[in-house]
Amino acid sequence: MKGILLAGGSGTRLYPLTRVTSKQLLPIYDKPMIFYPLSTLMLAGIQDVLIISTPKDQGRFRSLLGDGSQFGMRFSYAQQARPAGIAEAFLIAEDYLAGEPAALILGDNIFYGGYFSRNLSQAVENAAQGFATIFAYPVPDPSRFGIVEFDADLNVLSLEEKPERPKSNYCVTGLYFYDGRVCDFARQVRPSPRGELEITDLNKLYLAADALKVQLFGRGFAWMDTGTMDSLLDASVFVQSIQKHQGLVISAPEEIAFRKGWIDRAALLAAADAYGASPYGAYLKRVAEGEVLYH
Ligand code: DAU
Repeated sequence: MKGILLAGGSGTRLYPLTRVTSKQLLPIYDKPMIFYPLSTLMLAGIQDVLIISTPKDQGRFRSLLGDGSQFGMRFSYAQQARPAGIAEAFLIAEDYLAGEPAALILGDNIFYGGYFSRNLSQAVENAAQGFATIFAYPVPDPSRFGIVEFDADLNVLSLEEKPERPKSNYCVTGLYFYDGRVCDFARQVRPSPRGELEITDLNKLYLAADALKVQLFGRGFAWMDTGTMDSLLDASVFVQSIQKHQGLVISAPEEIAFRKGWIDRAALLAAADAYGASPYGAYLKRVAEGEVLYH
C-alpha cells in the first residue's frame, strides 16, 4: 500500500501565519504539523509516500523531509496548482499509485490514542479485500464536516458534505483507505457546486458499489483538524499536556521508524544528534538508549 499526504490549500483562514509558509509546516507544540499525519501513515506500515503541496511550498517540504531515507522510507513529491478538491489527489497520484491500494491523509489531521495501530491494520486489510475505509468521530458541530450516518452494525447508510441538517454527529475524519480501484472512481467525480472534487463524492461511489466500511475509535481517542487559529492552539496544548504526563513524544517519525525496524540504532542516534540541543533530539537519544518504556 502507498500513502498520499495532501498538504496543499491556500491557508487563508490562518493569515497572517501562513503568508509566507504552508499551514502544514506550522508548529504543533514541538514539531511541524506534517510530522503528525506522516506518523499516522507510518503506523499503518506505509513506507512509500507521495507528498502533495502547492508549487510555492514544495521546496520547503523537500528540505524538511528529503527523500525519506532518514526514516527508512521513500518520499515522492507532486504539486497541486490550486485547491481544486481533496479527491483531486488521486488524479495527481494516478501514475504514482499504478493501481496499488492507497491511504490518503490530510496534512492538518492529528490522530492520537490507544489501539490506533489495530484500527489501521484493519483498514489496510479491508483495502486488500476490495473495500474502502473511513473513520468516524463524534463532533459537536457536524455542519462543518463530511458526515456519515450508519446503523448499529456499522453499515454506512449515507454520506453528506457539510450538511445543513446533519443526519448524525459523526464526522468523517481526514484519513481514507482505498483499494486499487480508487483512481478509476476518482475520475468519475465531478466538481461540486463549490467547484471542488469532493472526497465525500468519491466515498459515495464506494458506498454505491457496496464497498465502503466505517470504523470508530475507542473512547478517549483524540482526533483534531487544525485548520483554525483555536484548533491550532488546542492541538499544541493537547500534545504538550500528553507528552508532559506520559513522558512519550507524540508522532516522532524517527521513533516510529526505529520501533518498526526501518532504521537502526546508529541512524536514530545520528538523527538525534542532528536535532542539536532540542528536547526532541534529547528524546530520540533516550529512545535509542532504551530508556523510554513503551508497550
Ligand atoms: O478534516 C476532515 C474534513 O476534511 C472532512 O470531514 C470533510 O469531509 C472534508 O471535505 C474536509 O473538510 P475541510 O473543510 O476541512 O476541507 P478543507 O478544504 O479545509 O481541506 C482540508 C485540508 O486539505 C486543508 O489542510 C487543505 C488541504 N487541501 C484541501 C483542498 C480542498 C488541499 O491540499 N487541496 C485541496 O484541493
